[in-house]
Amino acid sequence: MGASPSPDPIPSRAPSLLIVDDDVGFVHAAAELARMQGFEITIAGELNTALNRMRQRDFDVALVDIDLPDGNGLQLLEDVDPDRTRAVVVTGRPTVESALQSLRSSVVDYLVKPICPERLNELLHAAAVDRRIAPPRATAEQRHGMVGEAESFVSVCRMIDKVAPTDASVLLHGESGVGKELIARAIHAASGCSGPFVAVNCGAVAGELLASQLFGHEKGSFTGAVSRHLGFLEQAQHGTLFLDEITEMAPALQTHLLRVLDFGCYRRVGGHADLPVEVRIVSATNRDPREAVASGRLREDLYYRLCGFDIPVPPLREREGDAMRLADAFLSELNVRAGTRHAFAPEAVEFIGHAAWPGNVRELRNAVQRAYILADDGVVRLSPQLFPQRPPSESAHTITFTVGTSFEEMERRILRKTLQHYGNNRRRAAAALGITARTIRNRLARERGMPVTDDEDL
Ligand SMILES: Nc1ncnc2c1ncn2[C@@H]1O[C@H](COP(=O)(O)OP(=O)(O)OP(=O)(O)O)[C@@H](O)[C@H]1O
Ligand SMILES: [Mg+2]
Repeated sequence: MGASPSPDPIPSRAPSLLIVDDDVGFVHAAAELARMQGFEITIAGELNTALNRMRQRDFDVALVDIDLPDGNGLQLLEDVDPDRTRAVVVTGRPTVESALQSLRSSVVDYLVKPICPERLNELLHAAAVDRRIAPPRATAEQRHGMVGEAESFVSVCRMIDKVAPTDASVLLHGESGVGKELIARAIHAASGCSGPFVAVNCGAVAGELLASQLFGHEKGSFTGAVSRHLGFLEQAQHGTLFLDEITEMAPALQTHLLRVLDFGCYRRVGGHADLPVEVRIVSATNRDPREAVASGRLREDLYYRLCGFDIPVPPLREREGDAMRLADAFLSELNVRAGTRHAFAPEAVEFIGHAAWPGNVRELRNAVQRAYILADDGVVRLSPQLFPQRPPSESAHTITFTVGTSFEEMERRILRKTLQHYGNNRRRAAAALGITARTIRNRLARERGMPVTDDEDL
């Protein structure tokens, strides 16, 4: 997208730069300078890749080398719209012809390598100002390298900017791999909190162990507690505690956590003193939090405490154009790290833009990495054949289990899904499952850690 010609308020998106060059050293240095000015960068090591990128979107500035492995960079200038893009030619081999050709086209500057960093800085700065583009509020680095320009993603970034400086608890929810942890880190980074960011996966640790990991324990509070242990909560003092997979936290522990949020204090396992704590809580879940409350996985009162500010993170398929932007960013990262100049094949560009990406950004990142490793001729090919068999996705009316799921977990999920299907009507769900409503009630009570009155086999 180019800068809008409208006279309205200054757009807040980052200015964009396309670097077309196969000289890794120059690309690296120019990207670094531009990043410091808040530019969002796309790199193309070849003419064809650059043409593809320019067809997909507009750039505010294009730095174009003349001698490219597959042709003359000046060809690109025919595709540049001077109202939208400032084209700057950079070359290590200046010639009168190329200088004249540049002058005749939309090129605003002609730089000869080695390029003076101050000159390039000035040029980028002028381009940003000229385009009336305000420096972005947070650069990619400040946002932990989050890439994305789709409206649905930009609105998430706006929410991050708004909520970060407050002390509101934030609940992030969205499918697996959409970037919840990255967003949690971005919130912390922009919060100005002096303490650290401490992440805890509530689904990965068993109940009692999680209590001691979270709240810490006193020496001798249980067998093996040979010394006092500082909990994550204490470690996150004046910082952010990220509670991942919050709906997997055992019910008893949810009660303890509620106490922390209500009173700002906690007790170590085996301790008697109430210790004050000042921590920002950001939590995340792959589930629909309201559904988790309805089905009893998440205490309702805790939900309201955690959800001071709710951020639904959209799946990648609902972020128009971002799959390619992310893929470009991942490939650039791999190229810069290894000093290579691999580029996507045209079919790969097509595929990336149209694939559904059920595993979201994580799946895309892994796919790019895999294709990059396999690209022995420098052409990164991505096609459906490259993907290991995807597990069938779950819908509102189906349940999918992977091999290795325990009977207990299967039983629990069958019960939840059936209840959900019948609008939480236990009698109808029981009839469908061939059990009694009392069995359902007892199973739910057991999960919530409440006394079970009577039970029958499911
Ligand atoms: N906007 C983004 N820009 C760049 N990288 C991203 C972006 N979003 C996610 N990623 C990358 O995708 C991967 C998955 O992100 P993350 O772990 O934050 O997802 P998640 O929502 O927490 O997933 P899960 O629910 O499975 O825990 C990470 O490697 C992360 O760095
Ligand atoms: Mg995560």
